[in-house]
Order: sequence, then structure tokens, then C-alpha cells
Amino acid sequence: MADLFIEQAKQYSEGRPSYPEELFQFLASKTPNHDLVWDVGTGSGQAAASLAKIYKNVVGTDTSQKQLEFAPKLPNVRYVCTPPKMSISELEHTIAPQCSVDLVTIATAMHYFDLPTFYQQVKWILKKPSGVIAAWCYTAPEVDPRVDSVFGSLYYVDSRPYWKQGKDLVDLKYETIDFPFEPVDGVDHNGPFEFKAEKLMDLDGYFTYIRSWSAYHVAKGKGVELLTDSVLEDFEVAWNADGKSQKIVTFPIYLRIGKVGLSN
Ligand SMILES: C[S@@+](CC[C@H](N)C(=O)[O-])C[C@H]1O[C@@H](n2cnc3c(N)ncnc32)[C@H](O)[C@@H]1O
Repeated sequence: MADLFIEQAKQYSEGRPSYPEELFQFLASKTPNHDLVWDVGTGSGQAAASLAKIYKNVVGTDTSQKQLEFAPKLPNVRYVCTPPKMSISELEHTIAPQCSVDLVTIATAMHYFDLPTFYQQVKWILKKPSGVIAAWCYTAPEVDPRVDSVFGSLYYVDSRPYWKQGKDLVDLKYETIDFPFEPVDGVDHNGPFEFKAEKLMDLDGYFTYIRSWSAYHVAKGKGVELLTDSVLEDFEVAWNADGKSQKIVTFPIYLRIGKVGLSN
């Protein structure tokens, strides 16, 4: 079982896209100070590594030690394995003091959280009134109509029973996720704002992305292989139809962003 988690974490770090520079520049433009970020659900550090180029210090936390083991080691990033819920005193001890964080980021993870508890922590830890929370997710990747059609059956039909709760919030682009924060300066709403992540992939890389899904591993644990021979073959035919083995895979990103304000 432990090997399964290591394998999943490895597939995750290899198969997932990193996020675009424009996203981080947008976040930086909305935080007056660039001292400290808390990246929650940091996984294998996809966002933490980019944030570390802009902010002096980043604390990346995750409930999975295995995911953290694949995160890049950087001098200004501190990774901590935490329980899913932390008391305020644990938060202060593990992350930072009250009103000390410029930015809380949650990259493709907030739909897993207990939001009332998490938002209390965010409001406690962010600088007032300018501290910013930014939570984003990405939806189904886009390649071309042939590949996307095979993907659609796998993602929306075959894998559906195996996704954790919260998946619908992602499919709805975080439009319906509870997000009680004020618009940041210069905009009149708190999102979703749209960005795109792109990753050059061959078919093996694309399969690695699919195998990094939690749903893939949940299905496997129940004795169900989602990538059956027939699905693999459908993907091969669709992928190779244009004769190009490498393709740009686009992941649409949806960002909710807000500031804590004085009333919170
Ligand atoms: C889909 S991954 C996203 C990882 C990374 N941030 C990224 O952008 O690819 C979700 C991560 O959230 C973590 N996670 C789930 N519930 C959590 C919680 N309550 N607190 C902290 N991390 C959590 C999981 O262990 C996993 O690494």
C-alpha cells in the first residue's frame, strides 16, 4: 500500500502541469508586500516553487508526507506535513503568527478542505486589511477534438464514481464554491478569473497525468482499472491521428481571489 502512495506521488509530480507565470504576476500585483506566503495543499510544490521566486518566504503545507517528498527543496521554502484541521495554536506554532501572512494560496486543493474551519484560519493569519487569499483549480485538459472525446468518456463517465467529494466544485470552475472575501484592488469581483497552463506531452506523459488522479487510485484499490486495453487503444488511435507524437495539452485554470478586509 505504501508503494502505491509513493507511486501516486511520483506520477503526480511528473504528470501535473506547473502554473503560468501570468498567474503569479497577477497575484504579486494584488499583494502590497511580498514577504510571506502560506501555500496550503502544496502537494509536490507546483505553486510553491513559482511563489518562491517572488516572495521572500513560502511555507508549503500538505497532509501527505509522500507528496512533500517530491517537492523541490528551495532555500526560502519550508514544507510541513500537517493534520487536515489545525487549531489556532497549532497554526501559530506551525505556520506563522496572527496577521503576518501576505498571501494564502491553494492550488487545486481547496475543494478537499473543510471550508468554515479553513476560512477562520485564513482570516486569522492574513495581514489586515490587505492580505490576499487565492484559490484555483483546473478543469479537463484540452488536446484536440479526437483526444478530448476519448478523455470525456473516461473523465465524466467511467471515473465518476471514484472521485472524492468536491469534484463537482472543480467541474463548475469554482463558481459555486463558498468564498467570503472582498474583491482585491483594481477589480470588482472575486472571480473566477481565467488563466491557462500548458504542458508539452507525449502519450505516455498524458497517461501519467491520468494515473496521477486520485480517482484512478481509488478505482484501482477497488479492483477497477480505468485505463483498460480498449481505452488505451482508443487514446492511441486518437492521439496518433495527426502524426504528431508530442502535443501541447492545455489546462484551463479558474482563480478565486479576494482580500481579507477590515470586517473579517
Ligand atoms: C490535487 S493535489 C494539488 C497539489 C498541488 N498544490 C498542485 O497544484 O498540483 C491536492 C493536495 O491537497 C492535499 N490536501 C488534501 N486535503 C488537505 C488538507 N485538509 N490540508 C492540507 N492539504 C490537503 C493533498 O494531500 C494533495 O497533495
